[in-house]
Amino acid sequence: MPLFAFTLVLCWFIAPTWAQNCSVPPLTLTIQNTTFSDGIVVNRGIQTLLGGQLLGLRLSLSQNNTRVRNARDCPERAANFSRCQGASGGVFSISEDTFTSVPPSRWNVSVVDPHPQDVTILYGYGAAEFPGTEAMVDALPVEVWSDTDAQNKSELALGPSSSFLSRLVEHSWAPTRNIGLYYGSRSQNQAKDGRLIIGGFDEARFDASTEAEFPLFGYGAAISCPLQVMLADVILTNSEGNHSLFRDPDSRVPACIDTIQNAFTFTKTMYDQWAGLTRHIDFDGSNYTGQTYPADREPLLGTLTIKLSNGYTSVIPHFELVSNERGTDDQGKYAVLNSSRVMAAIQSGQGDLGNDVPQLGGVFLSQNYLRIDYDQRKFWLAKAVTNTSLPAEITGVCTSQPTMPVTNEGIPGGNKDLGLKVGLPVAFIIVIAGLFGLWRFKHRSRLPSPSPGGMFTQLHRNINLRGRPPQAADPGAREMIQTHQTATKPSESAAAQNTAKADSGRESDGYEDATRRNSLP
Ligand SMILES: *[C@@H]1O[C@H](CO)[C@@H](O)[C@H](O)[C@H]1NC(C)=O
Ligand SMILES: *[C@@H]1O[C@H](CO)[C@@H](O)[C@H](O)[C@H]1NC(C)=O
Ligand SMILES: *[C@@H]1O[C@H](CO)[C@@H](O)[C@H](O)[C@H]1NC(C)=O
Ligand SMILES: *[C@@H]1O[C@H](CO)[C@@H](O)[C@H](O)[C@H]1NC(C)=O
Ligand SMILES: *[C@@H]1O[C@H](CO)[C@@H](O)[C@H](O)[C@H]1NC(C)=O
Ligand SMILES: *[C@@H]1O[C@H](CO)[C@@H](O)[C@H](O)[C@H]1NC(C)=O
Ligand SMILES: *[C@@H]1O[C@H](CO)[C@@H](O)[C@H](O)[C@H]1NC(C)=O
Ligand SMILES: *[C@@H]1O[C@H](CO)[C@@H](O)[C@H](O)[C@H]1NC(C)=O
Ligand SMILES: *[C@@H]1O[C@H](CO)[C@@H](O)[C@H](O)[C@H]1NC(C)=O
Ligand SMILES: *[C@@H]1O[C@H](CO)[C@@H](O)[C@H](O)[C@H]1NC(C)=O
Repeated sequence: MPLFAFTLVLCWFIAPTWAQNCSVPPLTLTIQNTTFSDGIVVNRGIQTLLGGQLLGLRLSLSQNNTRVRNARDCPERAANFSRCQGASGGVFSISEDTFTSVPPSRWNVSVVDPHPQDVTILYGYGAAEFPGTEAMVDALPVEVWSDTDAQNKSELALGPSSSFLSRLVEHSWAPTRNIGLYYGSRSQNQAKDGRLIIGGFDEARFDASTEAEFPLFGYGAAISCPLQVMLADVILTNSEGNHSLFRDPDSRVPACIDTIQNAFTFTKTMYDQWAGLTRHIDFDGSNYTGQTYPADREPLLGTLTIKLSNGYTSVIPHFELVSNERGTDDQGKYAVLNSSRVMAAIQSGQGDLGNDVPQLGGVFLSQNYLRIDYDQRKFWLAKAVTNTSLPAEITGVCTSQPTMPVTNEGIPGGNKDLGLKVGLPVAFIIVIAGLFGLWRFKHRSRLPSPSPGGMFTQLHRNINLRGRPPQAADPGAREMIQTHQTATKPSESAAAQNTAKADSGRESDGYEDATRRNSLP
């Protein structure tokens, strides 16, 4: 047994060379209102001190690099500046102390996101801190955008090749690039703070009985967004009954989940159905936007039921869907602009992601907990438990699949060289361990033997490691099952193994188990 323990411990210590450090607890960032230094503007997002300047960054689930709007885009007069700052989700003022600019070719990120021709972008690094946590990244890759046409640009990038997530893992502020997102709510009367967990998720907010699994980039949406789902139906339930927004009940429409905008974006056809059912008008002496109505239409704007092709269903309550007319007021606050109008979180045409692709934004995620595992190229939705009096139960997730030599082969996007890189040290350790065992055998040491259980319990005190099982298939979801099987096959055995361990108790540890198997001669 001491040989065994020694091997395990050694394997543990080489684990960091696999780029994830499973003994680091997950990082929790709150999605909340941020009041800027002028005391006026309020912005909902992740509080970020970038080069000493406070920003409330919106979350992008598609972009890979964090971007901020150049403060020079905004008018200089104080009142107008606040308005611009509020509408932009914070702006950033460049100086030698706050930002190190580099030519794009020397900007060290794995993917540079595409951008329109007519914007000026400075690439570089800024020191980032996240108030309320100890986390700090001394050189966070940042794009500084100048584009006076854009109303807002600042966002924290959480996409599949996010340089923000990579830096957090490299600096041991998070164990993995996994994400657990409870978005909270920007509802007018029932606003709630959200919580972003990096390297884990909040079990108290995740209703596991409703969980559904999806492949990344799975449904051929017209834009390159990673979190795609297939809409099977969208139903408006109002004072006049249930009505589908699909003219053809058999049609299926790919959609993107992204928190970069709060509202839903629907296709023109779906929006036209919606506008008819809710008796939208453009003019009655004053002008209305596609989202605003006279207040007496409110009973027609009931609740919305979103049905996905794999059977997953989410009901968006009225208080999330409808508010008074809101927008950025003169002080830069997101506030009610006209209380004799109502506004629905439904739009069409140009969304923040660009093209006319249906988008499920913050309002959708107010009711749905999102988990993402970029290494396994999967994500999960489950009904969000929105009862705020339940305390958080944050659990670390450390997936071993992409980094283990036995399971590496054939993982989509997996690094084929990794098997060799990991395999050599493991072989080396086995030899050393063998020699050590021999030595122990000959010299009957008097030192107390380290107990493997004790060692690991201590290393893992803060973290409950868990690999998710392939989801039990839904009978009605043929196309879903196929995609999902191709996506999970290579890692099935490891996942199943992890699950068996995880289900047996909190201290269980699929990672440890896989290590043990691999390291035994
Ligand atoms: C892994 O994380 C632990 C706990 O935070 C830390 O003590 C250790 O130095 C980290 N290892 C590496 C190689 O970063
Ligand atoms: C500044 O704000 C005032 C009113 O708040 C507005 O009349 C004026 O046009 C704004 N100026 C600019 C440059 O945006
Ligand atoms: C961001 O800009 C879009 C249009 O580009 C606008 O619809 C949206 O309301 C703006 N968001 C905020 C928070 O002002
Ligand atoms: C680029 O970043 C990676 C990971 O963050 C780091 O290992 C590497 O040394 C960096 N390269 C340069 C030239 O800075
Ligand atoms: C982010 O990176 C992924 C590759 O990991 C890429 O497929 C995607 O297109 C990138 N996102 C954007 C907006 O460029
Ligand atoms: C955040 O600020 C808005 C005003 O912009 C307010 O309506 C909302 O209730 C606040 N959210 C929370 C959770 O307090
Ligand atoms: C609308 O649909 C819901 C859920 O399917 C059902 O419970 C309800 O009875 C329906 N209402 C009407 C008026 O058909
Ligand atoms: C309504 O909008 C039209 C242009 O779209 C504009 O000409 C008209 O003045 C507006 N009416 C009011 C009352 O704001
Ligand atoms: C508020 O909305 C009502 C109803 O559409 C309209 O008559 C009024 O002019 C609006 N007030 C402002 C300040 O826009
Ligand atoms: C919310 O959670 C608390 C604490 O567990 C519980 O007492 C309460 O009944 C829950 N409320 C709802 C609406 O479920």
